[in-house]
Amino acid sequence: MKDALLEVDLAPGHKTGLLLKNPVMTASGTFSWGFEFARHFDINALGGVLSKGVTVHSRAGNQQPRVAETPAGMLNSIGLQNVGLYKVIDELAPQWAAWDVPVVVNIAGDSIDEFGEMAAALDGVPGVAALELNISCPNVDVGGMEFGQDPVAAGRVTRAAVRKTDLPVVVKLTPNVTDPVALARACADEGAAAICAINTVLGMRIDIDRRRPVLPRGRGGLSGPAIKPVALRIVHDVARAVPVPVIGCGGISTGEDAIEFLMAGATAVQVGTATFANPRAPLDVLDGLRAWLRKNRVSDVNEIIGCARLPG
Ligand SMILES: Cc1cc2nc3c(=O)[nH]c(=O)nc-3n(C[C@H](O)[C@H](O)[C@H](O)COP(=O)(O)O)c2cc1C
Repeated sequence: MKDALLEVDLAPGHKTGLLLKNPVMTASGTFSWGFEFARHFDINALGGVLSKGVTVHSRAGNQQPRVAETPAGMLNSIGLQNVGLYKVIDELAPQWAAWDVPVVVNIAGDSIDEFGEMAAALDGVPGVAALELNISCPNVDVGGMEFGQDPVAAGRVTRAAVRKTDLPVVVKLTPNVTDPVALARACADEGAAAICAINTVLGMRIDIDRRRPVLPRGRGGLSGPAIKPVALRIVHDVARAVPVPVIGCGGISTGEDAIEFLMAGATAVQVGTATFANPRAPLDVLDGLRAWLRKNRVSDVNEIIGCARLPG
């Protein structure tokens, strides 16, 4: 049997669109700016690449240690260390423009207006295919998750960005709320082209010898296989509630993991923490996905999207 068709559309009907040659993307913050990986494998084989979270001004990030191992995952408290918006526009985007894979820039504003200003600055920049609004970072004092925990604020941030750019705007949700569906609805209502779920789950570890939290800020964001069931539940519930595509993220490290997310209703997936143990993880997920589709005689990946969804 021939390989299945893999192309998916993350922004159907949108002005510039966001067509991926396959549904496997990297996750923000786990793939740096992509250049190190591009030296080791064919980055153009991926469906999409996410940048590290970008703020207007460069940031040094939080005090060390910033990561801690956990059973089946890790905690991080990076604090949005990044080179700043204008270095991204002037130096990184021109290099992305030479790639044959869409690069989505993950942005984190300190205020609603700042999300709008960043969206305006990135509009029309060659090498930037779409924006992902990070309203879900648990590791910063200002902005971050505070916009992502209230549907009204999440809707306002979305509107501020959508009004300032022709690029498709993806909104990335935090799982650290009671009702992620309400947030997703508010973002979709305000023009989000797609929803990404999920960012990290708030967690903590204690160093029993020092009798102190392992991470200086106490809490951090849990990622990896430990959060996969949480992510799947949220993707499932959001996908049946909103009319826009959903990108699944959280604990994906195999083709079978990706299939689970697609069946729950995701149109694409992002691979994050798995990349730290295996830099080729996104490609391995893609190979696994392709093999599963072939073995199960599925001719187009779109056929399985949402097939396991329960009536809502
Ligand atoms: C070290 C690290 C840094 C991250 N940085 C960002 C970031 O800058 N912006 C963002 O939206 N998500 C960030 N995330 C969250 C991931 O993109 C992803 O949503 C989360 O880790 C769950 O996926 P995973 O289990 O595959 O890692 C980061 C995660 C890790 C582990």
